[in-house]
Amino acid sequence: MFDFPRYSVRRKLFLISITSVGLALLVACGALIVYERSVFRAETVQRLLTHAEITGLNSESAILFNDAGSARTTLAAFRAEPGIAAARILDRDGGTFAEYLRDQDTPPPQELSVIVTGEPDFRFVGERLLLSRPIRSEGSVIGTVVIVADLDEIGARVQSYLIIAIAVFAVSLMASLSLSDRLYRSISTPINELARAAREITAGRGSGVRANVSAKDELGLLADSFNEMLSRVEQRESELRTTVESFRVARDSAQNAAKVKAHFLSLVSHELRTPLTALQLNLENLRRGRESLPPRVVQIIERMRVSTRRQVELVESLLETSRLEAGKLTVTVGPVDIAVLVHEVVDEVRAQAEQKHLAVRVDAETVPPLRTDARLLRLVLVNFLSNAVKFTAAGSVVTRLTVEGPFHRIDVTDTGPGIPHANLQQIFEPFEHVEPIDGKHTPGFGLGLSLVRQMSEVLEARIAVQSEVGRGTTFTIFVPALEEAEDVEPAPAPKDS
Ligand SMILES: Nc1ncnc2c1ncn2[C@@H]1O[C@H](COP(=O)(O)OP(=O)(O)OP(=O)(O)O)[C@@H](O)[C@H]1O
Ligand SMILES: [Mg+2]
Repeated sequence: MFDFPRYSVRRKLFLISITSVGLALLVACGALIVYERSVFRAETVQRLLTHAEITGLNSESAILFNDAGSARTTLAAFRAEPGIAAARILDRDGGTFAEYLRDQDTPPPQELSVIVTGEPDFRFVGERLLLSRPIRSEGSVIGTVVIVADLDEIGARVQSYLIIAIAVFAVSLMASLSLSDRLYRSISTPINELARAAREITAGRGSGVRANVSAKDELGLLADSFNEMLSRVEQRESELRTTVESFRVARDSAQNAAKVKAHFLSLVSHELRTPLTALQLNLENLRRGRESLPPRVVQIIERMRVSTRRQVELVESLLETSRLEAGKLTVTVGPVDIAVLVHEVVDEVRAQAEQKHLAVRVDAETVPPLRTDARLLRLVLVNFLSNAVKFTAAGSVVTRLTVEGPFHRIDVTDTGPGIPHANLQQIFEPFEHVEPIDGKHTPGFGLGLSLVRQMSEVLEARIAVQSEVGRGTTFTIFVPALEEAEDVEPAPAPKDS
């Protein structure tokens, strides 16, 4: 079937050119034939009217003298016009006075009897022209010349036109073939060039690839736009490369700065820890002999002990942070009795909780030992519990231990002030405090939970927090068993610490 869209460009061009040539020829031929036919008919009418006029004049005396033989001789002159099939001279009453027949053997054509008298007249009957002319003598009509002529000649002319048109069409067909070939080349060359450039770009043949198209038509415009687009892409690419390079430099210098910071942090922490430990020991010694000291001094020693403990906690947190950032955190995995660990940590905060009259409870199931790092898990629990005791003014701190699927789940629930929902993410960032609702300031560095987050990543544990302002908070850790007995890769350093 005729499926134009699927045809090749070459075939389409050929079809377009041959169709337009054929159509033009057809229209031209049709117009020519119509014109020629009307001109031919008008000429024939004119010529035969002249013949009839001359015949009428020549027959005037023959009619007047009733000389039919002379009239027939006049009519015989029509033999020179092969188109005239028959002619008659009618008398005044319309009777046949003289007659001419081109073919003597055939009967006179019926059309002859159509016109009997009259005025100058002509009409076309089928492919014949019927024409009459009155013969006058001294103003009165004495007879009529009637002529019947064939119009076959026009058919012959149309035939020759058609032959010429077919010949012209055949020549145009050949011309179209070579023309469509040339047209195709003028179109295909730029398209192939564009395709080549596109292929080279796809194959990653570097920058500077361009389509070399000299055409100034739409294809030339397309190639110019294509080249322009390539220039833009190359420009963007080079900008992107510069940006990436500057990011790389910035990243390297940030990494260097982080290393220097971690080194500084660890140096300072170590330097601080030594005198602080000495101070703590001396305070312990003084405390042991408190019976012999005045109560005011004992009170001062007690305050110094609390302050020193806080300093030691800070230094420990800073050291832990610097170890994490420097990737020097050592992870020791072994079987841990979580229930024992939970009891130990709760006992550490019990004295402080009792000072605040808080009820401290442990609700621990009998659980199997778990392979994990006891030191890091203890750090997490210490932070949960010390926060719970620190931020709770009255009520209780309950620690629950259960087994949930593959995890050991530990919940630390307090009846403290709670944390607004909007701050639940923020509290895990380093040095973040939530403004207390009651306006009371609680001391702290905001490092505890950021360490918890990083430790839990090392332990492959999940942390959750649920809190209701005014009612309390529950921090939960889901601890899985660690497969590897050797060191676990520490978590990456947080971006802003
Ligand atoms: N149990 C809790 N109840 C109410 N708020 C809490 C509780 N635990 C943590 N927060 C809020 O989260 C913040 C961050 O806790 P985080 O342990 O990181 O810091 P901190 O306790 O203030 O200082 P640090 O632990 O370094 O001594 C706290 O300042 C506090 O506002
Ligand atoms: Mg804390």
